[in-house]
Amino acid sequence: MAKAEPILYLSNRDLEQLGLSLGEIVPILEAMFRRKASGDTAQPPKIFFHRGGPRFYSSMVSSAPGLGYAGCKWQSGDPENPGRGLAYIQGLFILSEDATGQPVAIMDSKWVTGNRTAAASAVAAKHLARRDARTIAILGCGLQGRKNLEALKAVLPSLVRCQAYDVVAEREAAFVRETHERWGVVVVGAGSAERAVRGADIVITAGPIEDHRRATLMPEWLAPGTLTIALDYDSYVTDAAIAAADLVLTDDRGQIEDARQREGKFTGVTRIDAELADLLTTGQGRRTTEDQRILVFNLGIALEDLATGVEILNRARRKKVGILLPA
Ligand SMILES: NC(=O)c1ccc[n+]([C@@H]2O[C@H](COP(=O)([O-])OP(=O)(O)OC[C@H]3O[C@@H](n4cnc5c(N)ncnc54)[C@H](O)[C@@H]3O)[C@@H](O)[C@H]2O)c1
Repeated sequence: MAKAEPILYLSNRDLEQLGLSLGEIVPILEAMFRRKASGDTAQPPKIFFHRGGPRFYSSMVSSAPGLGYAGCKWQSGDPENPGRGLAYIQGLFILSEDATGQPVAIMDSKWVTGNRTAAASAVAAKHLARRDARTIAILGCGLQGRKNLEALKAVLPSLVRCQAYDVVAEREAAFVRETHERWGVVVVGAGSAERAVRGADIVITAGPIEDHRRATLMPEWLAPGTLTIALDYDSYVTDAAIAAADLVLTDDRGQIEDARQREGKFTGVTRIDAELADLLTTGQGRRTTEDQRILVFNLGIALEDLATGVEILNRARRKKVGILLPA
């Protein structure tokens, strides 16, 4: 009989130490999207429910037999947490080896979520942004705002300007201070969502996922050719802006449908032209002209956590990082 293995525990600090860059996660996710298209994966819809206002719990599971692993992420979200010195989203990710099903690693999920989400935006931007994209708008100057700026600059070196907006003026100012020219991009505080979006080639919406939607992003703010990547479901993007998009893509159709049915979200989404997995394997949903306005709903999928988690496990084992818990 196979012996039970100890479980590797990796804290947020351990994950930081591994030195896995956003630019390195991008091809890992591209390979995962191709694997998803091949059907060698299982991914039931995520469980997501609000727990009063915009606070939420979520659970995400997936397996990829070809990768040799399955994973489960348990998280909470609370937009009040930054004021308490805590991250908005926190939780744990558990990795099991597929051959025996035994858990082999438990890791802090903040790092995984923070980085794989931005890397998934970078996958979308690499394949869907205008070739000459120079200006990015960031709506929501939190963790995702910061990670997305870094990730998109890694895949689109032509980006030279960032127009940032946060509903909390001090957070917008802190974002500008921290990121200005750090990634070779001039970062300016826009003072309003409209001023941030107007003139941008790429728009990232990274405000909270609202239980009662108060979307404000209007189609007339978006210039021809703009790529909008929504990370906060449909909380920011109005139905008019969704209807005005020439192409609508997502990381997972099933999740859009599930969120529509169980959460009452995405009521304005009347068509999905392609998943990112289709785009990468067949070219379905690709940009065909420079003036198409493209909208991507990246809800965040369990397979992104899994692919990133497996790379983390391999690196941590090689570098002997983390604590072994008794089996
Ligand atoms: N799709 C995914 O894969 C995925 C993964 C992780 C997080 N998210 C989502 O991304 C969003 C951002 O997450 P985060 O970790 O960066 O959170 P965060 O708390 O670090 O940052 C959110 C920021 O948005 C600001 N904000 C609130 N309302 C705003 C508005 N109307 N306009 C502009 N700014 C506003 C807040 O002041 C805060 O600074 C959340 O909705 C989160 O649920 C999505």
